[in-house]
Amino acid sequence: MSKIRIGIIGSGGTGTRHAERFSEMETVEVVAIASRNTETGNTLAEKHGAEFIPDWYTLVQRDNLDGVVICTHNDTHAEIALAALRCDKHVFMEYPLARSIDAGEAVVEATQRNQRVLRINHSETVSNSHRAIKQKAEELGDLLLTTFLRLTPGRGVRPEILFNLPISGPPAHFFVYHIYPIVDIFGGVRSVEGSAVYEGLTDQGNYNRFVNTVNVEFRNGGVGSWVWAGGVEIHESEQHARYVLTGGTISDSGGRWRCSTGAGVEEIPPVEAPHISLQERWIQEIQTQETSAADRDAATALEAIRVSLSAEQSMQEK
Ligand SMILES: NC(=O)c1ccc[n+]([C@@H]2O[C@H](COP(=O)([O-])OP(=O)(O)OC[C@H]3O[C@@H](n4cnc5c(N)ncnc54)[C@H](OP(=O)(O)O)[C@@H]3O)[C@@H](O)[C@H]2O)c1
Repeated sequence: MSKIRIGIIGSGGTGTRHAERFSEMETVEVVAIASRNTETGNTLAEKHGAEFIPDWYTLVQRDNLDGVVICTHNDTHAEIALAALRCDKHVFMEYPLARSIDAGEAVVEATQRNQRVLRINHSETVSNSHRAIKQKAEELGDLLLTTFLRLTPGRGVRPEILFNLPISGPPAHFFVYHIYPIVDIFGGVRSVEGSAVYEGLTDQGNYNRFVNTVNVEFRNGGVGSWVWAGGVEIHESEQHARYVLTGGTISDSGGRWRCSTGAGVEEIPPVEAPHISLQERWIQEIQTQETSAADRDAATALEAIRVSLSAEQSMQEK
């Protein structure tokens, strides 16, 4: 079988990690790298024996590519994905799917119309741990309440990009990878309410510290509540999740998942199965043209940004 030829757009942290991952696969050839950053772009292209192309639109138009991997900032994901799909390329993109619900819907529609494979890098849900939690949640009956709390001390490697509302969106949006797994288990939502506090907010949308909250009612019943606070005075990140169901409560403390019922507490070990990364799935799906799992996961990604972007709208209206 001939190799799948890919181009990568963006030469920062995730662009570098994806270039390494894909270069290691025997079924893939990294043909080109595009980035507005000519210094890191050239260095990355040279390292992987790929051509450097300064402009991403030139890359997506290339006939010698089967797929495009999008690793730019949040404000450009959907625009690049749509252009690549219109040029008949398969797309692997970083989350979030889009900065607007209309743009996210347009990407999903273009994928189906052109019969391409779209994968959004929500890798947490293909983990064997997530599969075990999902199975346990199904056994435990109906959802009553889910709560999620994350506190982070730092502002990321590039705070001017991450802590910037027009480029990255509010934290509720760039932390969508904490919404996606919950929507994957419990389904979509029927109402969303968000609130936000930003310390040191400038006219350009940069800030120093934040608190975002998102409260939802799930369509299948039960309520959810996410709280993120970042740039706060804490020694190291903390994260806690709870899924309270009619038959028991699933909780995460320090990455160890447990189920608690009136009868006692038990660990939830990961399911025993070979782990296939999302990158490997994308390549296999391009080769086999079997898109049903990718289509289902794209629909979940769209539902996840409906939550984060509706929360953003609610924050703005307040
Ligand atoms: N899956 C994960 O685990 C994970 C982890 C972290 C981040 N992410 C996501 O990955 C994306 C990239 O994050 P990152 O940490 O890799 O950011 P980064 O280190 O700043 O890299 C972004 C790269 O894209 C380039 N770029 C930005 N806009 C561009 C444009 N319009 N045309 C061409 N190149 C452009 C940047 O150039 P400059 O150097 O000139 O800015 C840079 O090379 C974000 O959406 C983020 O949410 C995912």
